[in-house]
Amino acid sequence: MSNPLAKPQRPAAADPRDGHESEVEAQPLDLGLMLWLFSFTRPYAAKRNTLLVFVAIRSAQLPLLSWLIAQVINGPIAGGSSTGLMWGVAAYAALAIATQTTLHFRQRLALEMGELVVHDLRNQIFAHLQRMRLQFFDQHKVGWLIGRVASDAEAVRLGVQDSLFTSLVALGQMVIAALLMAYCDWRLFCVIAASLPVMWALNRHFRPRLSQQHRAVHESFSRVTSSLAEAVCGIQVTQAFVREEHNARRFGRLIDSHARLNVASMRTSGMFLQLLECNAQWFIALLLVAGGYRALVSTPAMPVADLIQFYFLAGFFFAPLQTVGEQYSQAMSVMAAAERLRAVLQTELAWQEPAPHSLVVSGRIEFDRVSFGYDAARPVLHEISFVAEPGQTIALVGATGSGKSTIANLAAKFYLPTAGAVLLDGRDLCSLSSETLHQRMALVVQQNFLFAGTVRDNIRFGRPEASDAEVEEAVARLDCSEVIAALPEGFDTQVGESGNRLSLGQKQIVCFARAMLVDPRIVVLDEATSNVDVFTEAKLKVALARLLAGRTSFVVAHRLSTIRDADQVLVLDQGRIVERGRHAELVQRGGIYAELCRSGNGPHSGPYVGSAVRTNSTTEDATRSRA
Ligand SMILES: Nc1ncnc2c1ncn2[C@@H]1O[C@H](COP(=O)(O)OP(=O)(O)O)[C@@H](O)[C@H]1O
Ligand SMILES: [Mg+2]
Repeated sequence: MSNPLAKPQRPAAADPRDGHESEVEAQPLDLGLMLWLFSFTRPYAAKRNTLLVFVAIRSAQLPLLSWLIAQVINGPIAGGSSTGLMWGVAAYAALAIATQTTLHFRQRLALEMGELVVHDLRNQIFAHLQRMRLQFFDQHKVGWLIGRVASDAEAVRLGVQDSLFTSLVALGQMVIAALLMAYCDWRLFCVIAASLPVMWALNRHFRPRLSQQHRAVHESFSRVTSSLAEAVCGIQVTQAFVREEHNARRFGRLIDSHARLNVASMRTSGMFLQLLECNAQWFIALLLVAGGYRALVSTPAMPVADLIQFYFLAGFFFAPLQTVGEQYSQAMSVMAAAERLRAVLQTELAWQEPAPHSLVVSGRIEFDRVSFGYDAARPVLHEISFVAEPGQTIALVGATGSGKSTIANLAAKFYLPTAGAVLLDGRDLCSLSSETLHQRMALVVQQNFLFAGTVRDNIRFGRPEASDAEVEEAVARLDCSEVIAALPEGFDTQVGESGNRLSLGQKQIVCFARAMLVDPRIVVLDEATSNVDVFTEAKLKVALARLLAGRTSFVVAHRLSTIRDADQVLVLDQGRIVERGRHAELVQRGGIYAELCRSGNGPHSGPYVGSAVRTNSTTEDATRSRA
């Protein structure tokens, strides 16, 4: 185990997973950010204002308590009046009870306020994330996003419930103590006021450091959590490739670095607090010199009780510094968290959607010189043009990475082309709302996703209002009723998290049924059958034919007869269409496609059109995992 406190060093072995999202550069205690956060209290203005009143009352109550003690010493005690003393004590007791009561309500309201703010914040972020385009999710790790909704929102909750109002009370207390001191003796107050520039300088020196260290701590923690998330999700692969130790070492390095940064940050924070405290004591000592002089030397001499009172007030002026200093680092994390949340909420959508509208779709899809790159600098599709007439099936064929899925993604408006246009019934997809489009479209992909719930819920996903009978009919139309019936509880079987209690084939059938139930005009199947065994595939063949019948469809498949029956086969190579036509024509032409078919990889013989790379790597992986 390496020493977490050792000098920072870069981890030795580079790991592809070490890259992480760069954090937003937050100004510590940025006013705009605070106002943004504060805007979340607007719906609860009445509660917030009451809370602020309690804050103001409590800030005054604490210095007033010491003021009162001094008054009692100075008045009844110095004057020897025992009735006066009784009254003084009674007033003190009453004020003390009032102060506690204020604290109770102040805390209660702050707790409620924090809960309300975070509730709204989480809802807004979730809603915003749901609307984000796929591009956004390409750029942000799942762990990072979960961190926003979970820990950043939590930090903001603590910030509102604790730091914000505690600091406000502390600051208010300082202001009121200062005013009382200035009122009692402005010359002595000048001594205290001289401490302010020192505090300012300390703050100026430490703030950027603390803020930077805080960010580093947070970033390192982000890396720890994403590493953990990946380790859990990829446990099967890790165990299969005997990488447990490597992963553990890597995780160890990450927590070492996190611990180191944490200690460094706490060290700075501790130093800051100590210097603040030292500064306060130094000025209290100066006050003793100045006060002693006033009481002993100057004429008229200052009454000792006045001096005592002044000391009490000075104490109340400096005491909150500790609180403020302690809240400081928390405030810094809150600000950083708020900044990240604001950045997510203010991330513009990659494009604006037109309002949903009703539309009768015949299903003619045209790609008109479409070029596209996930990253603008690296185009993956070049000048793709073709027309899919209503009801036609377009098969996309080509090596891994040639752009088949990308074409499917563009047809489904998950991304917009960089150049050219995708047209549905002659209308640019840009001018159609995705909602309208997706209501007429069904998508089945290789890594299909099922949501935790029953089989029935999942089939009904695209049409929640569908009756049980309709759900069952969709399955019957696919001729797959007995597959569902064979499940432990039929339609009521729980599929488990992301469907992991079903076999791949069963999952795929649920996905086909989900698509069928929507009764779409357009169907996109991206390697929907690549992962299933030959036996299930035979079963799916019928289902597939029924799903595709009469609908415009894009099919990326390796070995199904679908390719032979397709109205057009588009052969892709590095983002360009290199051949097109029906299966028979292409075979006759004797080009790349014919070559693929001849080499025994074609749809005639069954397996894998143009997927030599994939086949090889799969075999290789399997061999290695057995090793
Ligand atoms: N989300 C993504 N972000 C960046 N690049 C991507 C993304 N998806 C695919 N690519 C790249 O685009 C190219 C085409 O990919 P794709 O259309 O998925 O190929 P395939 O023909 O195997 O379906 C590949 O070079 C791939 O690396
Ligand atoms: Mg693909």
